[in-house]
Amino acid sequence: MTPAEMSALHHAAFAAERGWSAEEFKDLLDSPYVEAFTAPHGMALTRTLAGESELLTLAVDPAHQRQGVARGLMRQWMTAITGTAQTAFLEVAADNHAARALYADFGFATVATRAGYYLRKNAPSVDALVLRCTLTAGQAGQ
Ligand SMILES: CC(C)(COP(=O)(O)OP(=O)(O)OC[C@H]1O[C@@H](n2cnc3c(N)ncnc32)[C@H](O)[C@@H]1OP(=O)(O)O)[C@@H](O)C(=O)NCCC(=O)NCCS
Repeated sequence: MTPAEMSALHHAAFAAERGWSAEEFKDLLDSPYVEAFTAPHGMALTRTLAGESELLTLAVDPAHQRQGVARGLMRQWMTAITGTAQTAFLEVAADNHAARALYADFGFATVATRAGYYLRKNAPSVDALVLRCTLTAGQAGQ
């Protein structure tokens, strides 16, 4: 998947927020620590460094959601970092119930809250939750 395709997918999935540009994706992918996981209609970007792996973004085309695409991408990520990283973490908006349900399935739990972190147009800002998961053998099998 090219940076331009990633950007288009990101814009579609995050329609209510600022989509990342192709240049932003290209810059991220230039980092040796950043890895892209892709599937038809979905992608995830992660950064793994010093025993920790962060999910930078996860997006599935709205026309293909609820078909297991994100679950497959999460499995790819977990499989790739098992043996390399001891913990995985990510940030999610408190009102993103779909993503929170997915991450809970993979064993992520809230370890911090950033109050009012996500600014919303014509609506109150929303807390960011920092979720963390300690990696164990067999983690990828959710
Ligand atoms: C969150 C997102 C990535 C999920 O992608 P998806 O491919 O639809 O998810 P999957 O089909 O793999 O679903 C896996 C699990 O996630 C949860 N889930 C996904 N969509 C859900 C929804 N609309 N409501 C409630 N739970 C949901 C469920 O637990 C689901 O398991 P189930 O289908 O067995 O019940 C997708 O909705 C998306 O791209 N949203 C916009 C961008 C975003 O919020 N990214 C994450 C930012 S942290």
